[in-house]
Amino acid sequence: MPDGHAAPPSGQIHSPETQAREVRPDWSAYATAYDLLSDHNPAYRALVADFTAFLGSIERPRVIYDIGGGTGNYTEVAARLCPESEVHLMEPDAGMIGHARAKLAAHDNVRYHNIALEDVAAEGAADLVICVHALYAMPGQGQRLDDLRRLLRPGGLLYLIDLGRDMNVGDWRGYLFSHLKKERGLAGALRVFWQGREIAKQNAAIRKAQKSGLYWTHSGAELASAVSDAGFDILRQDSVYRDYSDLLVCRAVS
Ligand SMILES: C[S@@+](CC[C@H](N)C(=O)[O-])C[C@H]1O[C@@H](n2cnc3c(N)ncnc32)[C@H](O)[C@@H]1O
Repeated sequence: MPDGHAAPPSGQIHSPETQAREVRPDWSAYATAYDLLSDHNPAYRALVADFTAFLGSIERPRVIYDIGGGTGNYTEVAARLCPESEVHLMEPDAGMIGHARAKLAAHDNVRYHNIALEDVAAEGAADLVICVHALYAMPGQGQRLDDLRRLLRPGGLLYLIDLGRDMNVGDWRGYLFSHLKKERGLAGALRVFWQGREIAKQNAAIRKAQKSGLYWTHSGAELASAVSDAGFDILRQDSVYRDYSDLLVCRAVS
């Protein structure tokens, strides 16, 4: 990337130096409306349901990390289904982690770390690492995948979902509006849209960040190749979230 402004080709991994020059979407502002997604977006709910089924299908992990865990929706599933496990929510944004703390107060097996992945020092501690819709927003995805590998014990599992394709705000608006209108009528749909106006604003900021090259875009094959390079075997791969994202279940190579 010669000047730091032209978007690199899809799948090209960005250096931290390139990304540091750019402007970021405001995750704290997003946090105020974020859980309208889990309440009203069927595509978001389908991902949480997939994770719930996945967690029910594996041997109970003793130590679980949720990286870029946001308002804690995946941490909540892990804490509830694995009450004997330690669940560590790692989230650098104060607004996001504040919402998670308030929401998950009833779970005494959750530990909160207000920290970015690149600053987590642990090594080989986790049986399961969850990283959903956060990798694309991090600096230096190749190094961040190495970090995810480093956190896991050999044979441990990574449950990874990443936004890879361009965020088309109009497409999402149409999808959500038609779903809400069916479910709650026109007035109900308009009410939820008004409450969730920060989501549309931050999704537009994500799109800008993708265009400028700050946020990573990739195909499923490009993500799979980066994941393999970091020392993972891929056990499952699907295109999800209306084909905007890729879901990979991976095992840390011994
Ligand atoms: C779209 S939210 C996803 C939240 C949650 N995983 C979910 O799916 O509901 C992306 C999150 O990634 C976090 N994030 C951004 N950069 C990060 C980094 N370097 N390390 C860890 N998390 C990061 C943001 O603060 C934000 O909360």
